[in-house]
Amino acid sequence: MDSVALATNPLREGLRSTRTVQPCILVIFGATGDLTHRKLLPALYNLAIEQPLPPQFTVVGVARRPFTDEQFRQQALDSVNTFSRRRPVNPSVWETFSKGLFYCQSQFDDPAGYERLDHLLDRLDQERGTQGNRIFYLATPPSFYGDIGALLSSSGVAKRGAASGVSPWARIVVEKPFGHDLASARALNERLNKGFSERQIFRIDHYLGKETVQNIMVMRFGNGIFEPIWNRRYIDHVQITVAESIGIEGRADYYEQAGAIRDMVQNHMMQLLTLTAMEPPVTFGADSVRDEKVKVLRAIPPLMEAEISTDTVRGQYGPGLVAGEPVPGYCEEPGVNSHSQTGTFVAAKLLIENWRWAGVPFYLRTGKRLAKRVTEIAIQFKRPPYLLFQGAAAQQMQPNVLSMRIQPNEGISLQVSAKVPGQEMKLRTVNMDFLYGSSFGVEPPEAYERLLLDAMLGDSTLFTRIDETELAWTLVDTIVRDWQVTGTPLSRYEPGAWGPKEADTLIERDGRSWRRL
Ligand code: BG6
Repeated sequence: MDSVALATNPLREGLRSTRTVQPCILVIFGATGDLTHRKLLPALYNLAIEQPLPPQFTVVGVARRPFTDEQFRQQALDSVNTFSRRRPVNPSVWETFSKGLFYCQSQFDDPAGYERLDHLLDRLDQERGTQGNRIFYLATPPSFYGDIGALLSSSGVAKRGAASGVSPWARIVVEKPFGHDLASARALNERLNKGFSERQIFRIDHYLGKETVQNIMVMRFGNGIFEPIWNRRYIDHVQITVAESIGIEGRADYYEQAGAIRDMVQNHMMQLLTLTAMEPPVTFGADSVRDEKVKVLRAIPPLMEAEISTDTVRGQYGPGLVAGEPVPGYCEEPGVNSHSQTGTFVAAKLLIENWRWAGVPFYLRTGKRLAKRVTEIAIQFKRPPYLLFQGAAAQQMQPNVLSMRIQPNEGISLQVSAKVPGQEMKLRTVNMDFLYGSSFGVEPPEAYERLLLDAMLGDSTLFTRIDETELAWTLVDTIVRDWQVTGTPLSRYEPGAWGPKEADTLIERDGRSWRRL
């Protein structure tokens, strides 16, 4: 960003990070994979432009392909050219950044590869002054997480690690999914704990890196006017929608095992729910924030078998048309079992049994191949206690809704009733809007920029703690088990719709309806 822009728009102040990372080496396992290509390398380059990275900052890619350092640098340049939000590449930033990129070829489960890695890291410490500080980023298929964690400790590569900012320190960043259920999440954690304490483990949920997700906390706790009405006395219900128009994008192997409930509900939707529902934390420190999120998860009673058919819906998209183009049904996607019972849509009604939320339902829906891509949290308030306006005017009155739009068209909108100009008393619903794009005039950083930076700084506020992960799995495991026990059928839906009609029934049974988005 140029200094003129900063000077002319005061809202842009603070967009450049003032936090500086200590010299360190980031070791990326899975360095030739999709995540590294699309997200991690472009995010690191953007951080290099914004300058929180020190000149000694070094990246070592580890993967199975026989790349040289030069080939890895070339791949990184392709990634940045294709996916960076800042293009074209700035030659002088690239020159310095690319000199810090190195490659180590290894199988992820081969102890000899870890020996080579150890020597390389020691050499780079000497040559580049990285002081023994390490971050290990697991961007491999999840089946390797446990092996890598265990080998990092048994081979001594992670030997030096302290958790804090005192050099030398070591941290490990683990991509989602963290386990497949509660038992596997615990087993994975045990293996990681052989070399890393909880304070050294950074579990990624990329939704927490989104600016608009962080803004939920700022909205709630940076303003005085919301907190007094943020409770059961004023709020009728909450709707959380994470809708996607895409299908499974060639990820059949993973998705067949996961389905929408593990892919989206256990992690991203639970994060949105806990941030919306939590009590004000004592500080903005990692443990204070996560303590409050954990309390919310503890207050959600697991759904009983008897409630499973009324309070949850699982769906799967069939074949159809999207924007006039034919698209295959889930069971026709390459790699998917033609009789697959995996759900691509979930709707659920959850309750939070505490003083703030008793009796306020939280309705959740998420799915692939829905009408559009939109993520939103909508707080619907109760109607006014007495209807002053009669007749047609009264019928036109809609409840107030505060919607926090996570993506796209990021912003916040408050729906209020207003008088239509004229001699008669006619009401219409209007929106008071705040839009990120027009207010700040810049594109917000990508989620991975923020998360990588926080991991380098050792700030785990935006990462999930193990108790949080376990509680979310407990909820999901109960639902999945009840679906199996009760034989809850899959409801089909057309691509481009808002899910199966059973999802409408779920909310309409309570006299409410899904928002039209
Ligand atoms: C990922 C899921 O975690 O999140 C994907 O595995 C999903 O299935 C993606 O498409 C959605 O992320 P975003 O940032 O596009 O909303």
